Parts: sequence; structure tokens; C-alpha cells
Amino acid sequence: MNLVLDCDPGLDDAVAILVAAHHADLVGITTVAGNVGINRTTRNALVVAQLAGLDVPVHRGAGKPLAGEPVDGSRIHGESGLGNAVLPDLERSEASDDAVAYLCDTARSVDDLHLLAIGPLTNVALALRRDPHLRRHLAGLTIMGGSASAGNITSVAEFNIWADPEAAAIVFEKAAPLTMVGLDVTNKVVFGAAETARMRAAGTPAAALAADVTDFLRDRFRQYVAQSVVPLHDATAVVAATHPHLFERSRHPVAVEVRGEHTRGMTVADLRPPALIEAIGPPGVAASDIVWGTDVDAVRELIVKAVLAS
Ligand code: BDR
Ligand code: CA
Repeated sequence: MNLVLDCDPGLDDAVAILVAAHHADLVGITTVAGNVGINRTTRNALVVAQLAGLDVPVHRGAGKPLAGEPVDGSRIHGESGLGNAVLPDLERSEASDDAVAYLCDTARSVDDLHLLAIGPLTNVALALRRDPHLRRHLAGLTIMGGSASAGNITSVAEFNIWADPEAAAIVFEKAAPLTMVGLDVTNKVVFGAAETARMRAAGTPAAALAADVTDFLRDRFRQYVAQSVVPLHDATAVVAATHPHLFERSRHPVAVEVRGEHTRGMTVADLRPPALIEAIGPPGVAASDIVWGTDVDAVRELIVKAVLAS
């Protein structure tokens, strides 16, 4: 599968890059502001590619959401976005500062291209504005984002959608059906000390980084919840794209709340029976595939194995 990864590294994004490079033909990486600012997410993507020896272009994307100011996820991801990992000097440079043009051009020129977005959806929304036919040039569109149950950044909103709800609303409306790999499934695939020990034992710079960022995330989590295992949301989303048979999904209308006082950034999934929706409405809400569950052990192993090979 040819894959373009739109990301905001980001602890779990860093692992996701390694997993994508191992399990797919990673054609390119685009960056977006999210977990940290665009300079850092772009630098981090370049560093991960360098450490893993990936021959993949990195294109810088949007530095702020469609409306309002950039959010900040450094409380979880650390000031650099990669925890406290000691990073090498950068020997690479970005291929362009126009991720949106890259996305539009690549969708038209590369066959069987899957776009996987694991950060705020700003670049994807801007690409849809530039090319309203973008979706039909893609073999698939998967996002890590949203939730049909609880949120993580608010009681009902997941971080990537909350970081740019206007962009997410455009994407869910204009690029449906997409595959929503949200917290409903990603929270189930968790990693602990046993997994990071295995990663570290691989002895490569990229695997050491994956172990470092996962351990950092475990430390951060322990400040808030009594658990020593953490989800790597973005890495799970990669496996959902590359190994779809391992995941359970169903299709439902999904709207993104952009106004609610308590619900901005919520993905509002209509789980009522289709005949009832048809009868009562509201009409015309685009439907997407919501991923609910997976073979947790198999997915965890695919992620660890990808890191060990990095
Ligand atoms: C998502 O938010 C970010 O902090 C992570 O990188 C992931 O993409 C999880 O809600
Ligand atoms: Ca991310």
C-alpha cells in the first residue's frame, strides 16, 4: 500500500512513522501543528526519518488551525514534542513548505494512495478546499481522531478533532467515507514496560527513540491515572490502515460539533438504526466507518515488530 502520513510528532506520531515505514510503502510525510508548533513537528518528523534511515520527503504544512490559535499538547508530549529524548543534529531538510500542494499532487500522480492523518485535520481540509475532487483520487482515507464515546482533551472531544474542529468538519463532510480510528479502539491497544524493554533491546537509534517516547508517555500518564500502560493512538491507526482485516467497524453518519459550549470538537456519531435516521433525520449527514475494536495482541505485536526492525 502506498501511504502518505500527515502527522504532528508527537510521541505516538514518532512511533507511527516507524510503523508506517515498515508495514507500508511510505511515499511521503506531511506535518501539521498540533501536539507542538509546526517548527517542532516538522523537525521531529525529519529527525525520526533520519534516525530510521528513511528515504522519505517531509513537507511542512499548516502552522495554525483554520480558526483561532494553535493549541498546545506539550503538557503530554514535552516541550520538544518528543519527550526528553536526546535528539541528534538534523542532517536533513524539508522537501517543501507546501504540504497542501504535495497532498493534492501526490493524490493525482500516485496509484493506490492511502492518506493517513494522525494530527489535526488542517492540511487535509486545505487540500480539499484546493481540490474538491481529492477524495476520489485516494484509495483510502484514514484518520486517528474522534470518539463515539468519551473524549480525552475534554469530556467529549478527542485532541486531534478539538485542535481544529472547523477542519475536521470539512473533512468528515467532503471526504466521506473515511475511516475514523478514534479513542474507541486506540485506547484498547496499550503498551507497558515489557514492550519498551523489547524495543530498547533492539539496539538501534530508532527503536531506542520509540522506547524513550513510550516510557516518557507512561511517566506522564502516571501523573493523572493509576496505570502503567499507555495507548499509542497513532501507531494503532497505522495498523488499521495497513491491516484492516484485524479491525471491527460499522458505518454511521458523523458530524463534528464546532459550536457547542461544552461539546466543541466532539464527533457526533449517529448510532440509531438507519431506518429511524431516514424517517426522522437530520438528512444528509455524511457517513464514515467508525472503528470499534480489534485483535489487541496482534496489533500490539505488529507495532513492536515494526519498531524492532527500525
Ligand atoms: C491524538 O492526539 C495527539 O496528542 C496524539 O498524537 C494522537 O494523534 C490522540 O488523541
Ligand atoms: Ca498525532
